[in-house]
Amino acid sequence: MSGNLTFAMIKPDAVESGKSGAIIAHLQEQGFLVRAMRLVRLTRPEAEAFYEVHRERPFYGELVEFMISGPAIAMALQSSDAVAGWRTAIGATDPAEAAEGTIRREFAESKGRNAVHGSDSDENALREVAFFFPERELALLGVHLPA
Ligand code: RTP
Ligand code: MG
Repeated sequence: MSGNLTFAMIKPDAVESGKSGAIIAHLQEQGFLVRAMRLVRLTRPEAEAFYEVHRERPFYGELVEFMISGPAIAMALQSSDAVAGWRTAIGATDPAEAAEGTIRREFAESKGRNAVHGSDSDENALREVAFFFPERELALLGVHLPA
């Protein structure tokens, strides 16, 4: 069965242009519960590790520069079938290809500067939530990750 937690990030483009509030309102209206949230400034090693899977891709350098360019907002979101539900809500990587009503269609600038991140599997969702939130903080918020 799919898990009820995913990891989401509002990327530096959307934070800088003042869209965070609208994006959070939008996701709450769609039924996602914010279980943990932090304003973060990624270091270069953190951004490199977060997108390690793309290290060999031509856009990797640009992606890392973008992700460290300003503050981002990290969130653990809860809903039924959270990973797939959040991927549907954010839409395709390129906002030009994202469906009407999706967050990227509404708020993203371009394929690179695309406003939000969403985990692509339950395994990565747990890894990413744990990457950004100390276990102690999650426990205080009542979020318990499976061992
Ligand atoms: P994310 O991991 O951030 O949720 O995005 P995604 O799954 O939709 O897309 P992914 O293939 O994992 O790519 C990660 C991020 O790299 C940037 N990108 N730029 N210029 C390009 O061709 C290109 N392709 C990908 C985007 O910021 C994308 O979200
Ligand atoms: Mg991805």
